[in-house]
Amino acid sequence: MGRTSKDKRDVYYRLAKENGWRARSAFKLLQLDEEFHLFQGVTRAVDLCAAPGSWSQVLSQKIGGQGSGHVVAVDLQAMAPLPGVLQIQGDITQLSTAQEIIRHFEGSPADLVVCDGAPDVTGLHDVDEYMQAQLLLAALNIATHVLKPGGCFVAKIFRGRDVTLIYSQLRVFFSSVLCAKPRSSRNSSIEAFAVCQGYDPPEGFLPDLTKPLLDHSYDFNQLDGPTRIIVPFVACGDLSSYDSDRSYPLDLEDGSEYKYTPPTQPPISPPYQEACTLKKKGRLAKEIHPQDCPISTVDPLPPSLAAPQRHTLLASEVEDNEMNGSP
Ligand SMILES: C[S@@+](CC[C@H](N)C(=O)[O-])C[C@H]1O[C@@H](n2cnc3c(N)ncnc32)[C@H](O)[C@@H]1O
Repeated sequence: MGRTSKDKRDVYYRLAKENGWRARSAFKLLQLDEEFHLFQGVTRAVDLCAAPGSWSQVLSQKIGGQGSGHVVAVDLQAMAPLPGVLQIQGDITQLSTAQEIIRHFEGSPADLVVCDGAPDVTGLHDVDEYMQAQLLLAALNIATHVLKPGGCFVAKIFRGRDVTLIYSQLRVFFSSVLCAKPRSSRNSSIEAFAVCQGYDPPEGFLPDLTKPLLDHSYDFNQLDGPTRIIVPFVACGDLSSYDSDRSYPLDLEDGSEYKYTPPTQPPISPPYQEACTLKKKGRLAKEIHPQDCPISTVDPLPPSLAAPQRHTLLASEVEDNEMNGSP
């Protein structure tokens, strides 16, 4: 695959590089802001699950332009530094990370908490949705400690089967909850963003990091019958903006001439780094398809099992074989 083909297939990926954003996700936050004016009056913000940092770039430019803004960015992964952004490397589901974030806002609460967190997807939808929900709830838990009354919380959600439960939980804490889909988020993805405005926790609510919000101690009865929460769905981003599900020619209609641009800031220590190293050394897990094997090495199968089976050879098996002198 040529290096320009991704530019053709994903116009937001290309535009992110050309505009100096570290990731195409920047456009999602910008399009959400176009619709909801998220940055109005904001001087203190938290960016959860921030790496490689395009949302932090947007935040620092929009709210920290005069040097008065204050952005705290948190991620499991190391992130290259950004001017005006304080970084914490840690897991947002861990008490210690949450406490570290909260310490930065004691006495001066945040106006905005955003979370673009995504787990490593497994392809098992229920598991992925559950993991995503846990990230969102961890982010909400942190938000309940740092947000000022009236503050705003924006978080990625997967619009899966149980998303109504999440909306109900969010409605306990915010006067307005909407589901928004920016144009830069592909239609083929179940990703959307919960935009929660007007932080207003229930009377007597005491934030407690040790109690997960999913424990059903709140009244989620609204889930049943006619009072079931249905949140408005808002498609955002100018209709004239690019469609993330389309491929575009390299020479865009704005008249500018295409020139390849390298990524603004490649991730500094991505989780797939080890896989890349193994691949370079030819040691990465290989998929073996029985139909590709010489006939003599394949055990005859009863017809009912004769459909191609897949077996993944793990990197550890490859290394073991090498050590044992096997081919
Ligand atoms: C889609 S990326 C975020 C992109 C980012 N908003 C940007 O604009 O550059 C999702 C991030 O979630 C982070 N993440 C996933 N689980 C996390 C956790 N438990 N704690 C902290 N970060 C987490 C991943 O490391 C990854 O960097």
